[in-house]
Amino acid sequence: MKIIMLGAPGAGKGTQAKQIADKYNIPHISTGDIFRANMKAGTELGKKAKGYIDHGLLVPDELTVDLVIDRVAENDCLNGYVLDGFPRTIPQAECLDQALSLKGEKIDYAINIEVPDEDIVNRMSGRRACPSCGATYHIVHIPTKVEGVCNRCGSKLVLRDDDKPETVKRRLDVYHKQTKPLIDYYENKKVLMVVDGTQDMERVFNTIVKILGA
Ligand code: AP5
Ligand code: MG
Repeated sequence: MKIIMLGAPGAGKGTQAKQIADKYNIPHISTGDIFRANMKAGTELGKKAKGYIDHGLLVPDELTVDLVIDRVAENDCLNGYVLDGFPRTIPQAECLDQALSLKGEKIDYAINIEVPDEDIVNRMSGRRACPSCGATYHIVHIPTKVEGVCNRCGSKLVLRDDDKPETVKRRLDVYHKQTKPLIDYYENKKVLMVVDGTQDMERVFNTIVKILGA
C-alpha cells in the first residue's frame, strides 16, 4: 500500500502517518524529518536545507526528489510506505510517478487532511518536538507526563524553529501556492481521499482506517 499524506503545515500529516505506519507495518518516510536529522548531524544536505526551512521556504526539488526516489527503492518499502511531506510540488509528484511507473507501480491513496488556516497557527505554536527521538506533542492536545520532557526518551522538548508564527504564515503561503495544486493532480488520478482534520486525532485516524481498510 503506497500512501501520500497531503495537507497544510500542521494539518496532522506526521501524527497520522506514524499511526498508519504502525498499523499497516510499512515505513513512515517524512522528508521534513530527514532534513531535520541532517541539519542536526550537520551534513552538507542539512546545511543546504536549513537556509530554506528556517525561512519557511521549500527545499529545492533537486535536493529532494532523488532522496525520496532512492528511499522508496529500499527493501523495507516492498510492501508499501507512507510518504509524509512529499511530494510538495507538481514536478516532485511527476518525478515520483515516473520513477514508479518504470517499475509498473503507482500511488494507491493520496490522503488530504483538511484544516482551515485559522486553526493551523494555533496548533503549531502549541507543538513541541523531541530533538532526540522525533516524537511530537501538543501542549493542550497531547501533553507530556512531565512538562517539557519527552515521554519516550526523557529529552528536553523544543519548539521547532520554523514553528514561530511569522514563519508559519510564510509556510502557509508557500503551501497555497506550491503544494495545494497537488489536490487536483491526485484527484485527476482518482486516488484522492479527503479527511476532515479538525476532528480529534482518534477520529481522524478512524476515518483513515475506514478508507484504507482494516
Ligand atoms: P515538514 O516537517 O513536512 O513540515 P510541514 O508540512 O510544514 O508539516 P508539519 O510537520 O509542520 O505538520 P504536520 O502536518 O506533520 O502536523 P503534525 O502531525 O506535526 O517540513 C518542514 C520543512 O521541510 C518544509 O517547510 C520545507 O522547507 C522542507 N521540506 C519538507 N519536505 C519537502 C519537500 N518535499 N520539498 C521541499 N521542501 C520540503 O501536527 C501539528 C500539531 O498539531 C502537533 O502538535 C499535533 O500534536 C497537533 N495535532 C495533530 N492532529 C491534531 C488534531 N486532529 N487535533 C488537534 N491537534 C492535532
Ligand atoms: Mg510533520
